[in-house]
Amino acid sequence: MKKVGIALLGLGVVGSGTYRILEKNKEYIKNHYGVEIEVMHILEKDTTKAEALGIDKSIVSVDINNVINNPNISIVAEFFGGIEPARSFLIASLRAGKSVVTSNKEMLAKCWQELDAAAREGKAGLYFEASCVGGVPIIRTLQESMQGNNILSIMGIVNGTTNYILSNMADKGLEYSDVLREAQRLGYAEANPSADVDGFDSMYKLSILSTLAFHKRIPLDKIYREGISKISKKDIEIGKELGYTLKLLAIGKLADGKIEARVHPAFIQNTHPLATVKGSFNAVMIAGDNVGDIMLYGRGAGDLPTGSAIVSDIVFCARQTEHILPVFATPRDTDFSDDFDSKYYIRMSVADKSGVLSKITGVFGKYDVSIATMQQRQSGDDPAVASVIFFSHENREKNVMRAISEIKSLNEVKEVDAVIRVVD
Ligand code: HSE
Repeated sequence: MKKVGIALLGLGVVGSGTYRILEKNKEYIKNHYGVEIEVMHILEKDTTKAEALGIDKSIVSVDINNVINNPNISIVAEFFGGIEPARSFLIASLRAGKSVVTSNKEMLAKCWQELDAAAREGKAGLYFEASCVGGVPIIRTLQESMQGNNILSIMGIVNGTTNYILSNMADKGLEYSDVLREAQRLGYAEANPSADVDGFDSMYKLSILSTLAFHKRIPLDKIYREGISKISKKDIEIGKELGYTLKLLAIGKLADGKIEARVHPAFIQNTHPLATVKGSFNAVMIAGDNVGDIMLYGRGAGDLPTGSAIVSDIVFCARQTEHILPVFATPRDTDFSDDFDSKYYIRMSVADKSGVLSKITGVFGKYDVSIATMQQRQSGDDPAVASVIFFSHENREKNVMRAISEIKSLNEVKEVDAVIRVVD
């Protein structure tokens, strides 16, 4: 029986979940996968966490050298999150020939090339199934199951916190700030929610997923990012009335040889498969030129779901005789699109008098923005102000933004209240 020694860096929620799965499934892994995994060291300053799991104190320390200098440890699983010290510890481990398993999407998205170089130097493996969409096996699907396809697009709900907030705004008719407070109270959202609600977490995941999908490195500065903090319950309600659900989407596309990558809120029709993904669940659709559409769905966070992906990586890694690191085109050799086509929902508050609509549509026409439907409603209590809602056909994003900027400067336009992309 092959014996494999591992170290866990950090024993927080996911580190503890991983330890519990490794203990519970020890015999199962031995019997079905032919490897015996032994946790030989844990880096954690809070020893009560190790005590709670019944771990012997003698294998717990805060010194990475206890991992790097132990020849019996061949896999290092990291749970710190953030860039440092995770980056330095993992680079040193890889150079020392120890394979790395990580769920650290921020570090991977920002430092992947450095980690890759260290892994090649140490002939070690770099595994990161848990970095995107928690327990859902999206990474291995992209790496091991799509060889018969050119991937044309990847689109998903990859952040559970924002999906929980948007689902609750829709289901309970609440404003963003009220749901966020409730999500923080229940532990679904962090005290500082920016990484989730401003779309950073989704952007890191999209960078990783689209790099794998398109075999080209997609750096963060090539990804358009917009979060959900300006979404109002009014737009969610109007969307609902018209058959749309609002989601924070991560989208990567290959069109005409160019890559487009973006994270933003979007209306999707209620019949769209992603519209059924509620609460803190995640889902990703991949379109391959031969397989067509596939969709993966499940829990994107949590101790056992994320631990499940980490354990899958540990076992996969333990069974390799040689670690294969994928090769990607560099950003310099890749064409990125600096504009994209989309449909739009645009709501504005305008003076309710003759000639106003023709001024607004004149600006849309000037920028080649084609409108599909228009609806006027009463806006609040002031009878002199109307709420006008446009749905556009597919237009170039930059043209729409130029038109909106000019429309905002019209005297008759009190406010452009919302501009939300609509995705088919
Ligand atoms: N904060 C993430 C989410 C989970 O809300 O989905 C870890 O990526």
